[in-house]
Amino acid sequence: MQNNLKSRENLSNFLTLLTSSHEEERLGMEEVIDECKTFYFAGKETTATLLTWALLLLAKHQEWQDKAREEVIRVCGKTGLPGAENLNELKITTIVLNETLRLYSLAGTVTRQTLKDVQLGDLQIPAKMELYLAFPSVHCDTKIWGEDADEFNPARFAKPRKHQAAFLAFGLGPEPA
Ligand code: HEM
Repeated sequence: MQNNLKSRENLSNFLTLLTSSHEEERLGMEEVIDECKTFYFAGKETTATLLTWALLLLAKHQEWQDKAREEVIRVCGKTGLPGAENLNELKITTIVLNETLRLYSLAGTVTRQTLKDVQLGDLQIPAKMELYLAFPSVHCDTKIWGEDADEFNPARFAKPRKHQAAFLAFGLGPEPA
């Protein structure tokens, strides 16, 4: 009941935000509906699929399940829910979710377009070229992640990454206009 009330309150905040921009920038009804659909699709499918893969991986790797459970109970209590104030303390949970996203990316690719001619390693890429960045080939590259790149090992996210662009689960850089 409490959660229902909370999500209804959040929904009205979200709608308030969408409908409360300045007069000249105000969205029309169709645009508000489209934005709601985008958020529903972009927000629900992603989190539901991530949680499904994470639960499967935790079922297969009980040692990580024990660590994650211990952390959640320590930070949130036996019946409490995580909130903005304690999300930062959920370190094990975060590395488990990142490792899940590395192995089972929810988006397959992101698209980027070059603004000007660029050289990337040996590649000479002309301006206005569309590039499709395939997540699995980056996320499972043994040159970046090591020989165990196909294995579930959240500990790899506990240390700083050498290549910041090697983990693209949430995209990287601005989207093409
Ligand atoms: C595990 C959770 C999520 C993952 C892995 C994820 C991943 C992504 C990726 C890869 C993109 C494309 C970014 C790019 O091209 O650079 C994206 C776009 C977007 N995401 Fe998420 N996302 C997640 C959760 C959410 C949630 C919870 C919301 C909102 C409630 C959301 C809203 C959006 C929106 C609005 C866009 C832009 C869509 C557009 O191009 O119009 N995402 N997300």
